[in-house]
Amino acid sequence: MDASAEITFHAESRTFHLSNGKLSYILHILENGQPGHLYFGKAVRDRPDFTHLQEKRQRAMAANPFPDDDTFSLEHLRQEYPSYGSSDFRQPAVEILQADGSRITEFRYESHKILDGKPPIDGLPATYTESDGEAATLELTLSDARTGIQLTLFYTVFARYAAIARSACLRNGGQEAARILTAMSLSLDLPDSDYKWLQLSGAWGRERYCKTRRLETGITEIGSLRGHSSHEHNPFAALLRPHTTESAGEVLGLSLVYSGNFRIQAETDNQNVTRLSAGIHPSGFDWKLEPGGVFRTPEAILVYSGDGLNSMSREFHRLYRERLVRGYWRDRPRPVLLNCWEAAYFDFTEDRLLRIAEKARECGAELFVLDDGWFGSRTSDRAGLGDWQPNPQRLPHGLAGLAEKIAAMGMRFGLWIEPEMVNPDSGFYRRHPDWVLGAPGRTLCESRHQLVLDFSRPEVVDAVHSMIRGILHSAEISYIKWDMNRSITGAWSAALPADRQGEVFHRYILGVYGLYERLIREFPEILFESCSSGGARFDPGMLYYAPQTWTSDDTDCIERLKIQYGTSLCYPLSATGSHVSAVPNHQTHRTAPLSTRANVAFFGTFGYELDPGALSGAEIRQIQAQTAFMKRYRAIFQFGDFYRLKSPFSGGEAAWMCVSGDRKTAIVGWYRILCTVNPPFSRLRLQGLDPGALYTDTGTGARYFGDELMYAGLTTAAFDGRSPENGDGGDFASALIVLTAE
Ligand code: DGJ
Repeated sequence: MDASAEITFHAESRTFHLSNGKLSYILHILENGQPGHLYFGKAVRDRPDFTHLQEKRQRAMAANPFPDDDTFSLEHLRQEYPSYGSSDFRQPAVEILQADGSRITEFRYESHKILDGKPPIDGLPATYTESDGEAATLELTLSDARTGIQLTLFYTVFARYAAIARSACLRNGGQEAARILTAMSLSLDLPDSDYKWLQLSGAWGRERYCKTRRLETGITEIGSLRGHSSHEHNPFAALLRPHTTESAGEVLGLSLVYSGNFRIQAETDNQNVTRLSAGIHPSGFDWKLEPGGVFRTPEAILVYSGDGLNSMSREFHRLYRERLVRGYWRDRPRPVLLNCWEAAYFDFTEDRLLRIAEKARECGAELFVLDDGWFGSRTSDRAGLGDWQPNPQRLPHGLAGLAEKIAAMGMRFGLWIEPEMVNPDSGFYRRHPDWVLGAPGRTLCESRHQLVLDFSRPEVVDAVHSMIRGILHSAEISYIKWDMNRSITGAWSAALPADRQGEVFHRYILGVYGLYERLIREFPEILFESCSSGGARFDPGMLYYAPQTWTSDDTDCIERLKIQYGTSLCYPLSATGSHVSAVPNHQTHRTAPLSTRANVAFFGTFGYELDPGALSGAEIRQIQAQTAFMKRYRAIFQFGDFYRLKSPFSGGEAAWMCVSGDRKTAIVGWYRILCTVNPPFSRLRLQGLDPGALYTDTGTGARYFGDELMYAGLTTAAFDGRSPENGDGGDFASALIVLTAE
């Protein structure tokens, strides 16, 4: 039976129960009119009243809004969208500075609506529905009587995903302007703190490493103040029960659909209640809400899994792949590409590009991507950024001429752009020195010799739009890699008044989203890949516009095990840009077998980032086999179910696998990091198979039932020698096992 999304309202107890058979989310209206939280977790049967789940008692030092009820203190009640100032001392979800200097608000129930489907969020990325019954949404409207400000909380439950989407809207129905200092997308008060916190953190070249720690009394927090979601912390966190593993135990996953400054926090209070929150980072944020003005927060997604991390990830993967990514490429396997960045960097002519492209075609590539350096005076990263005209010395026949030659080879043509930035040494900057972000009298910090255009200004976005649009019309371009290579400093806009400078970061990212939206509408069949010095903007916000993201500038396959493993916690393989690069690797100087480099890159969008002209005939033949293999199986890699099997963070081996929707084909990737002498035996227990189906290992012809593969496992000693260069094993060996059932 198809699952359905249900929202039940029990008028007497003023309780809302959102459920879809996988999870339940239950809230009610407290005695003082504020919404209180009752339950989030595995689906429970509905009943008219769940108020018993709201624990209340008299506690020393608690402040009580009702003089006659010393058990009612907001400090100890679990709430839905708390504000500071009237007896809750924890971190607020909302804080509004009012004309009289007060920051106290009391948002009380006014009305609610239950809708079929999910309304969009104007100007912001968000999950969506396509047909009736896919989701139901609760719109809970509260108001603050003193200011006249209305707060609407949105809760969507999906029929097919174990996920709840939340966001909030503030509308100033009063007479005076107010300033929003904090407006979280989500706040969730959990009854205990018996959790491990998992975050995806790192730095350039080592993005999204899995880091865990126990929750402790106080605040556990990640965030970005860099203007992009950042290499350092991804807008994702999960709370795991202490014994949760990849395949068992409870997990709450939290992901913010936003690409700018963010904060995700868990605050464990003195009674072990844990307040989880996510939203725009309040630091430096200050949004002026004029009378009649409306402010929408980004959306946050909560996923519940009772079956471990793999199951949480698959819910995120399916939701993001099917109902966050949009457009022509959403359900289409991605082209095998060759990107010339690591092949040539800034050192190319049209002839050199054509030689690389011709070899790429021979290897089986379907898309040739011209990276940085094709425009203006951009022969290094010191000049030309912002001048979006082909460099006639490098491309004498323009982009159109090059694209035609690529098309004549039978490949599509793709291009790199970095529309949000300028080099000071560029015609664009010389014409518009006042269009970059930066406060007068303050240091204008360059990073990679570039400055950030003020995308909070519509005229700046319009000017960039007309240049990029012109480029996209000038040649047959099928793919765009949209890069963003620095963090934002000096977030001050010449176009905004003093009392709106706290809006710059958010307005900037709205400008980026607006430009993406215009371009994807005008060029719906172009495949966009977002990028930010590798993976500094690998976030759900970007996926709404660009179906795939360049995962990291670190293309070393062994390093990529950790990066792609961490990325897979939240993001689907169809979004994970992964390429085979040359050896010695340009970042680590490591030499890993070509087979291992491909065996890692298959688990993503797949392509090459090397000069195929520098390869031997045998290597070219190996690559031809790899591209043919990927074309045959890419639908399973990119749209199948993904399972992590062995973590590269905890041992000398890593493994993962993809299973087709009908469970008839499974592809397992196994990787040895460093070999040891006289290694102990190890087993690889597979997941997601049909226990009764008989699978054939297409490499060896061996046959196994699904239950044996999942419960007894494969013996990894048998993997040595499976890849051409592995021989008897050694460092960086790998195996790819394709299993098919009748
Ligand atoms: C950073 C990207 O991550 C690289 O792949 C490459 O496109 C360079 N920028 C080009 O400047």
